[in-house]
Amino acid sequence: MGAPITLTELSAQLESLEADAARSIEAAASAAELEELRIALLGKKGQLSGVLGAMGKLSAEERPLVGQRANVLKEQVQGLLAERLATVQAAAMAAKIARETIDVTAASSYTLPGHRHPLISTTEEIVDIFAGLGYRVAEGPEIETDHYNFTALNIPPHHPARDMQDTFYLQDGRLLRTHTSPVQIRHLESNPPPVRIVAPGRVYRRDAVDATHSPMFHQVEVLAIDEGLDFTHLRGTVMAFLKAFFGDLPVRFRASYFPFTEPSAEVDVQWRGRWLEVMGCGMVDPAVLEGLGLDPERWSGFAAGLGVERFCMVRHGIDDIRRLFTSDLRFLEQF
Ligand code: DAH
Repeated sequence: MGAPITLTELSAQLESLEADAARSIEAAASAAELEELRIALLGKKGQLSGVLGAMGKLSAEERPLVGQRANVLKEQVQGLLAERLATVQAAAMAAKIARETIDVTAASSYTLPGHRHPLISTTEEIVDIFAGLGYRVAEGPEIETDHYNFTALNIPPHHPARDMQDTFYLQDGRLLRTHTSPVQIRHLESNPPPVRIVAPGRVYRRDAVDATHSPMFHQVEVLAIDEGLDFTHLRGTVMAFLKAFFGDLPVRFRASYFPFTEPSAEVDVQWRGRWLEVMGCGMVDPAVLEGLGLDPERWSGFAAGLGVERFCMVRHGIDDIRRLFTSDLRFLEQF
């Protein structure tokens, strides 16, 4: 270090170092900047070391003066650095918290679009058509008594029709309903005719699962009781409904048998070149009306029952009923 240096000069250097340090520390905005400053000011090759290095050129009396002054300055600078670091870190934390505040009213940037299951929308469509014909919606329990599910529908305990609708029985003798027809009885018990209802809901049967069978499926029951209803009303209603749902597909009625209707029919629509059975129907059997205390000479009516899965599968060209129950989003997202 070339030229000799005086005490005054060194003192002046320390003073300006102090002023510079205070200013730049105050201006530092991050922990990283402060660390850089610490190294530049107090590090081995820092400004303070530079000043102290020149101390050797002072006299033995002057040296301790500058040394003391330098030590005080070092502590001051360390204090300022620590203080500023605390401030800067607090500000950074506050900014982080502000950034991370959750605005619960903000619109989500990713919303999985939801929609009705195809069985629900098919049920709604069927119910809507009947609502347009003046029908109201009725419901009944899925856990039924033997009486409502069978006996009151003219299916006494010995009747062979029971074999075709084996179901799941509870310990107390109640059962999972095999069809929505018991809603006919429940509704007529508490609503005097005239009635016009549709009753959608789940039904259960002891069936092995395959492409067309599920132990749980959905039906919609139709019931109209009034004075003077006959088979033409049944046929007209069924035709109007099928036309609304399928459009102009060929329809045929086939004579059939149900214990609770007389006469009974099954209805087929021609779809993709073959006849598909879509519903059962008939004129409500007088025995059913009598069981409800209704005079069959005065009241008559018709009933029908259809499987929602069948309507849904035809509508959407679904080949396997199991697809409707496996909750596979790749399948469901198509609807
Ligand atoms: N309950 C019958 C079944 O599940 C379907 C049915 C047929 C309902 C004729 C009716 C009807 O109301 O009149 O197989």
